[in-house]
Amino acid sequence: MQNLILGIESSCDDTSAAIIKDDVILSNVIAGQDVHRNFGGVVPELASRAHQQNIIPVIHAAIQKANIGKNQLSAVACTQGPGLLGSLLVGTSFAKAFSLGLNIPLIDVDHLQAHILSHFIRNADRTNPVPTFPFLCLTVSGGHTQFVLIRDYFDMEVIGQTIDDAAGEAFDKSAKIMGLPYPGGPVIDKLAKLGDPTRFTFSKPNIPGLDFSFSGLKTSILYFLRDELKANPDFIENNKNDLCASIQATIVDMLISKLAMALEVTKGLHPRGNLPDVAIAGGVSANSGLRKALEDARDNFGWNIFIPPIQYSTDNAAMIAIAGYFKFLKGDFGSQSATPYARAGNRST
Ligand code: KG4
Ligand code: ZN
Repeated sequence: MQNLILGIESSCDDTSAAIIKDDVILSNVIAGQDVHRNFGGVVPELASRAHQQNIIPVIHAAIQKANIGKNQLSAVACTQGPGLLGSLLVGTSFAKAFSLGLNIPLIDVDHLQAHILSHFIRNADRTNPVPTFPFLCLTVSGGHTQFVLIRDYFDMEVIGQTIDDAAGEAFDKSAKIMGLPYPGGPVIDKLAKLGDPTRFTFSKPNIPGLDFSFSGLKTSILYFLRDELKANPDFIENNKNDLCASIQATIVDMLISKLAMALEVTKGLHPRGNLPDVAIAGGVSANSGLRKALEDARDNFGWNIFIPPIQYSTDNAAMIAIAGYFKFLKGDFGSQSATPYARAGNRST
């Protein structure tokens, strides 16, 4: 029998719904929220209000695009956390009501696990390769930067992470310093394509082991620009592309050099002593510089890499639907009394 699952994502500022048929996506609808643009960041109160406006049309569109009827659904899966509580409440409340109304199971999904499990979404012909357990994933988003060792779909261990800002924050805060619009990551990526990545150098912190620190980079950029602007008020405007290219190259270099270290550490865990498969996930995995650096590592060092399609890199409900599918197969269902959680590791059922 084929299972049809509705996935819902509302952890931050994207309202998204997807329909999955077993592990093949039939539809993935995403409504962004322009309302935050003028504030230079996500305003939680405005985000929950926009989710309330978007959720019904988005779910309706996902069901229509998938060309199914809601009565055919086997289950509804929804992000439980981590994320903004007000935003999460909109998705989880809808999912609870939907599961009650249709008398189908409710499935709680962890947003970070879902980013990783997006690698198991299959093409319509199911020919695309998926990672082999155990594999290593660098999860890089607006709120998290983690090395995760994945032994099985839901057996995941964080083996390194940022001690302050996330990689996405490093992009967004650097962009803000330069007066670029929010979210800064995609803007820096776009301008970086026109610039020279070797033009400026920014200091990189020396953090032991597999942990990261990105807050120093922001300070280094801030002081550098403050000094340059004293001499030339148009410094940013005149050097925007090179600044973006250099900032992106610095962040990517920090990520890739630690990734090489993480692969060496996890080599021993692989049954054949080989380097494990290596995946990237989360919004920053959409970055063209990071994707290219990973492709270079594949070509030069034989890394077996997994890069998610762009539509599954940034927040989306397809990843919630695939995580929901694997939980559905296990019979791992949520409860009507479960409450959303804001931070990773603070789950309640
Ligand atoms: O996973 P995500 O969509 O939301 C969270 O779970 O946080 O990640 C959002 C982050 C933001 O910081 C955004 O600037 C960054 O991902 N991002 C990018 C790119 N696209 C999104 N950063 C660099 N380059 C991109 N192309
Ligand atoms: Zn995310």
